[in-house]
Amino acid sequence: MSFKEGGEGGEEKLELEDLEGIGSSTAEKLRRAGINTVSQLACIPARELEEISDLAEGRAGEAARSAREAVFPKVMTAKEYLEKRKCIQPMTTGSKNLDCLLCGGLEPGITELIGAYGTGKTQICLQLCLTVQLTRNRGGLDGAAFYIDTEDTFKPERLNPIAKALGLEIEQALDRISVFRAINSDHQLEGLRVAQEYVAQKKADLIIVDSLTAHFRAEYSGRENLVFRQQRLNTFIHRLQRISTIHNTIIVVTNQVLDVPEVIPGVKPARPAGGNVVAHGCTFRLWLERSKGMTKVSVIDSPKHPRNSTWIALTEAGVVDAEGPR
Ligand SMILES: Nc1ncnc2c1ncn2[C@@H]1O[C@H](COP(=O)(O)OP(=O)(O)O)[C@@H](O)[C@H]1O
Ligand SMILES: [Mg+2]
Repeated sequence: MSFKEGGEGGEEKLELEDLEGIGSSTAEKLRRAGINTVSQLACIPARELEEISDLAEGRAGEAARSAREAVFPKVMTAKEYLEKRKCIQPMTTGSKNLDCLLCGGLEPGITELIGAYGTGKTQICLQLCLTVQLTRNRGGLDGAAFYIDTEDTFKPERLNPIAKALGLEIEQALDRISVFRAINSDHQLEGLRVAQEYVAQKKADLIIVDSLTAHFRAEYSGRENLVFRQQRLNTFIHRLQRISTIHNTIIVVTNQVLDVPEVIPGVKPARPAGGNVVAHGCTFRLWLERSKGMTKVSVIDSPKHPRNSTWIALTEAGVVDAEGPR
């Protein structure tokens, strides 16, 4: 939440040419490089801009600085920051238990769902594609979703009973979900570029990446590839963060777990894949575990949520509240 007028609204009317030092030819070069708005320009690092545009040496840095000065306040008080955050409406997950765990629902930033297979990560993601469409007075954003599917687990027919349970008309609901089937990690990065366009054109309010880590882990296995894999994953996560910063987008990613050797006999420890890069890159981290036919969801890292847990059940009608084992 960094823009002067609460999100991108304040700079919406500002064109690239309105910035100090940017004339029509520089603006044209920026647009050719895919930089269409002042907020995009404000968030892109100069080095990256130099790579993708044909701006003369030094011009990229100047242009980006000029945009930053126009868009970001230099400093604000915590009180001003709090006022700005008041206009953020959390988005419902469709489960009161989960919403409660998240102090009201999902908010802009990256929320990570971590869990073994079958814990309900994809089911939650599918449901979010529908809850984002609910009206604001029902906890939705009256919006649309962009789904980057890397594991071929997006099954549109699965949405039918969930939409019905939420009282959404299925044909309309399906039209408001865009799916990008990413076949490898390069393609996943490409999907993010498309997602950003959708968000910028107000055709998406929520981005799902299911899964964040699978392609990177499969393509760069082995210790010798670890550094490169982490760099690529870092690039992907940074771009996600940038989209969220520019547009206040809610982003949900899924992540796998790694089994680690038992230290305490009988206790099977596990940790999220992706190491520190993912741990630092995601704002809110939720851990999912299957137990007694239900799923326990715990906050394992967040700058604002307490480390609580709650229970959900995966049903035909979607993700619903559960009471947990008695
Ligand atoms: N139509 C359905 N009715 C009831 N439960 C379902 C249905 N579809 C999937 N599930 C539940 O969701 C589980 C799979 O969850 P999923 O979100 O795909 O796991 P993952 O964490 O691997 O993404 C299944 O094992 C099942 O319990
Ligand atoms: Mg899945």
